[in-house]
Order: sequence, then structure tokens, then C-alpha cells
Amino acid sequence: MDKLRIQGGKCLQGAVRISGAKNSALPAMAASLLTSEELLLENIPLVNDIYTARRLLRELGAQVEFDPSNHTVRMRVPKIESIEAPYDLVKTMRASVLVLGPLLARTGKARVSMPGGCAIGARPINLHLKGFEKLGATVKMEHGYVEAACERLRGANIVFDRITVTGTENLMMAATLAEGRTVLENSAMEPEVADIADLLIRMGARIEGAGTSTITIDGVRELKGATHRIIPDRIEAGTFLIAGAVTEGELTLTDVVPGHLSSVIEKLRETGVALDAETGKITVYGPHDLSPSDLTTREYPGFATDMQAQYMALATQANGISLINENIFENRFMHASELMRMGANIRLDGPRAIVAGKTRLTGASVIASDLRASASLVIAALVADGYTIVDRVYHLDRGYEKLEDKLRSVGAQIERLK
Ligand code: EPZ
Repeated sequence: MDKLRIQGGKCLQGAVRISGAKNSALPAMAASLLTSEELLLENIPLVNDIYTARRLLRELGAQVEFDPSNHTVRMRVPKIESIEAPYDLVKTMRASVLVLGPLLARTGKARVSMPGGCAIGARPINLHLKGFEKLGATVKMEHGYVEAACERLRGANIVFDRITVTGTENLMMAATLAEGRTVLENSAMEPEVADIADLLIRMGARIEGAGTSTITIDGVRELKGATHRIIPDRIEAGTFLIAGAVTEGELTLTDVVPGHLSSVIEKLRETGVALDAETGKITVYGPHDLSPSDLTTREYPGFATDMQAQYMALATQANGISLINENIFENRFMHASELMRMGANIRLDGPRAIVAGKTRLTGASVIASDLRASASLVIAALVADGYTIVDRVYHLDRGYEKLEDKLRSVGAQIERLK
């Protein structure tokens, strides 16, 4: 298992290009199942989850050709060869459940392993399944698999009990080929939802309201091929903003959509960080002193749960107490214990973390537990005295493209130990 070795104390200076959004690319790749024509997706991030998605889609009958040199992927599914997403793939990437809606819409059948929980929580998919039943599918669960079947999906009114990003995406994709109108209420408003809707519309789908809490889809008989450029990854961008902020750096991010980061920019300004945002670019200026600021994670446009771990690393360097409330997942403080081993002063109290700063962090051997927790440890290592070894960086590799190269290019002393 690869490790990262980081020497702290360097401030980040220069410019870094943000990759395409993993959480846009994954549903976009699943959308290829909805048509027999070719999809060309651009600005694909070359991260491990994308390669897992390739393996899964190939098993279902997709031709998937990456061109890593220009970050594109060509997808074609002339015929669905299998309707089953096997356990070994789903357990490594729960976003595999995103093939459920497209398979159901294209073939009338789907058999997908229950994803099971992960480090950050139980992560049920009950809201996805309830939605499919509303569209007329029969859904049963046995032997750890979800089996869904339906002659032809019929449009329906669906109100999500709670906001779910992939639930919204799954149902929206299924509804594009259903008979009649589907209205999704209490939908997720994340930019990735709007991005996948843009792709579906290019494919001939009739969708209104994506990016708001009510999405209306009028089913069509079939969808065509299309070309689509994936939006920049707002979570990678936020991660770099925080890295620049805590290292008293001056870091410019390019290929980024500042509008997708409003809550992160606002929060960082509250801690004393200066930021210049213009079209396609954000520059962050890390101050000598950081002020504490409380945080509550919320669905978009609130502060993203995927940025909470990174913010906690910053809070350890702020002069004072920061309260962090994690509202979305029930177990998303795994990074706290590792940060404490580096010298952070954090108290956990259920969904709340009380971070007392400023504490001097010292390098240590730490273990990554999930994708964003690993990013938090890298950020802490950048400001810690001495060397930090981050183990199990396969978590990082799932969602960050060439992170150590990007950090090294702006001054970090970081290397990958094979
Ligand atoms: C998406 O996961 C993202 N993944 C996650 O990013 C992100 O953390 C999450 O949205 C929240 O923003 C992808 O887009 C591939 P949810 P998702 O359904 O869709 C509960 C990363 O780091 N819920 O919005 O699985 C659920 O347990 C990953 O890239 C139900 O109870 O999240 C959670 O508490 C991590 N029943 C809350 O809703 C359901 O049927 C939000 O989950 C579905 C969800």
C-alpha cells in the first residue's frame, strides 16, 4: 500500500489546475446505459473511482475507451449484456448504485448488490428504492442484492423524505425514459445534479428545474448520444483553498467555478483568509493568524459535508474554539483521532466536534480512513513540524488526481512511497 511522506512548514505558492468533478463523472458514465449511441465525456478526472466505474460498465456491456492525454472517455452501450452490478464492485464503490436507474429504464430489469455501509455511515439507499417503486417498479431484496423490475416505468410525483444526491440523480435518469411526467420534490441542488441534467438534456431528455429542489422530467422514447464537459471538482478546489490558507500561502486555482464554492469562500473569509474570485479562477492568501468560526454542514448551497474534514484541519490552527456540526453523515469524524495524534485538541460529542486552537501540530504516522479524511491529514501534515507519513493513500487516490504532484508543483515537500 502506497504512503505519502510530507515535510511540513512549506507555504504553497503558485497555480494549480482543478480536475473534473468525480461526483459528476460517475453519474455521467452511468448515463451511457440510457442510449445505444456514443457519449463523449470531457474533463474526466483520472481517479480510481473512474476506473472502477469503467470495470462495472464494461461488465454491463459498455465499450469504454479512455484517452488519458486529454481526459476524455468515449462510451457506447449498443446492447446491455448483463443487468447485474456485482458485490465486489459495488462494495469498493457505492456510487455503483447509479446504474440502477439507467438499467431499469433501458431494460426494465436491474440486479444491484446492496452497497453496505462505509467508514462515514450506514449509507442506506431506501429513498432510491422507494422512488423506483413510485415509478412502477417492483423492488425486492434478497441475498444482499436489490432486484428491480418493470415493463415500462411510468412518471410519478416523488417527494424525497430527505435530500439525497445520488438518489436524485438515479431517479432523474430513470425518469427520462418513463412514460409521462415525473416530478421530484425535495431534490438535491448540488452542481453535480445540474451537470448530469445538462448531459441528459443534450441526449434529448426533457428536464426542467435541475439545480433547484423541484425537478420535472417528461419521459421520451429514447435518448441519443452526446458530448459533454464535466464541471470542475468543487471539493478538490475547496481542499486546495484550505491548504493555501493554513500554509500562509498564495495559491491560484484555475479551471474552477467560484460560484460552486460560495459557502466555502464565505466561511474562509470569516476565519481571516483573503480570497479573490473571478471567472474560472480563485486566489487564496493565507493569513498569519486565523480566527475560529463555527461550522454546520448542510446540503448545497450550504457548506458541504465533503469539506468538513479539511475544515477541521484548518480549525486546529485558528486562535480559539470552533464548533463543527456534521449534519449529513452519522460517523464522519474519523479524521479527528488522527489529527489528535498530531497534536490537535478536539473533543467529539455525537454530531459535534469542539476544536480548540491554535495547537502546534507535529509530524506523525497517520492512517487515512476515507477519501476526505485523508485530505484532512495531508493538510495537517503541510503545517506540522517534521515529517508525516500518511498510510492507506488508496483512499485519496479514489477522488484526487495526482494530488502529490499538484501540491509539489506549488512548493509542498511531498513524495509517494511505493
Ligand atoms: C453523495 O453521496 C456523494 N457521492 C458524497 O461524496 C457526498 O458526501 C454526499 O452525496 C453528500 O453530499 C457521490 O455523489 C458519488 P446522499 P450520496 O444520498 O448520494 C442519507 C465523496 O467524498 N440517505 O446525499 O450517497 C444518507 O445516509 C462522497 O466524494 C438515506 O437515508 O449521499 C446520508 O446521511 C462521500 N437514504 C444523507 O442521506 C437514502 O436512500 C445524504 O446522503 C439515501 C441517502
